[in-house]
Amino acid sequence: MLKARESVRTLKEYHPPLGNREGLRLDFNENTAGCSPRVLERLRQIDGEDLARYPVRDKGEQVAAKHFGVSPEELLLTNGTDEAIHLVCETYLDAGDEALIVVPTFAMFEIYAAATGAKVISIPAGENFEFPTDAVIAAITPRTRFIAVANPNNPTGTFVPVKDLVRIAEAAPDAAVLIDEAYFHFCGETAATKWRDVPNLFVSRTFSKVYGMAALRIGVLMGNIEQMKVLRRASSPYNLNSVALACLPEALAEEEYVSNYVLQALEGRTELEAELAAWNVRYWPSRANFVLLYLGENCKPFISQMRERGILVRDRSADYGCKDCVRITVGIREHNQRMLGALREIFSELG
Ligand SMILES: Cc1ncc(COP(=O)(O)O)c(C=O)c1O
Repeated sequence: MLKARESVRTLKEYHPPLGNREGLRLDFNENTAGCSPRVLERLRQIDGEDLARYPVRDKGEQVAAKHFGVSPEELLLTNGTDEAIHLVCETYLDAGDEALIVVPTFAMFEIYAAATGAKVISIPAGENFEFPTDAVIAAITPRTRFIAVANPNNPTGTFVPVKDLVRIAEAAPDAAVLIDEAYFHFCGETAATKWRDVPNLFVSRTFSKVYGMAALRIGVLMGNIEQMKVLRRASSPYNLNSVALACLPEALAEEEYVSNYVLQALEGRTELEAELAAWNVRYWPSRANFVLLYLGENCKPFISQMRERGILVRDRSADYGCKDCVRITVGIREHNQRMLGALREIFSELG
């Protein structure tokens, strides 16, 4: 029988709960209101001829580079962050190399690293999910070729100072150090352009979260020009579809849509954290558009009662150190108020 490579056959299966997501979706950290009106308008203009042509990425890269304040050679548009992670793993990891991740974190780091045949070394975060910078540095060996950090982190919402990330990258000059800034807008701090001094550091961003374009699959990978030249070779020239490319300049042109959304999400996050504190519920202060909370035996009843009220939240129990924890996304004011109202009702019922 045809056999897949050992490293793929033994991969952990990752099945995000995508079935029946009708309702208020506070389970995937998406934009709860959807993409901007300008993006929608551009989508409506797509015609048959647009779809018949192969996508051209260069112009989109120029627009994106201008927005990010980098040169087009420092940037590659990707099919979401997932492809950025995949490309970095494929470019730098050989079977038997070592990949370092701090857990709990975004599942795709481990999956793409392990698929190459590399050994994934998981370093546990601190008691309050603090990022263990010194432990990461201590774990670096001559075989370490990939280190990935989501900053802010998912599912914990914790943040690592950029100077610590730079220390890690400097301590591992033979490793590609990928800083996944999917939730950048909610925290405002970036490692972008540090690759000019520390050439093994990369930064990725996505249009799946604050821009409300998860279905279009657009992300950006940025790094040192010499490294980006190599990564470009590993990427398909048609990795990004034309519909996504057409919408990209519109998304970037509407800064106010993004800042207004961020404002409401941050307001909601503050309110949610205050509510949890008032109920004496353990939670981890977040720098992203979601909050992780510990509900113990009330975890599953809470999730199902939220669902009964048409609100989806995410059980993170399967993540390292997150047993009986729930992650709740915040969004626009109206959605936050609905979620808070339901949460108060359920908390008073559960006691
Ligand atoms: C840290 C992190 N990175 C990346 C992603 C996915 O991004 P994309 O949709 O661009 O692949 C997520 C989504 O949950 C995430 O939490």
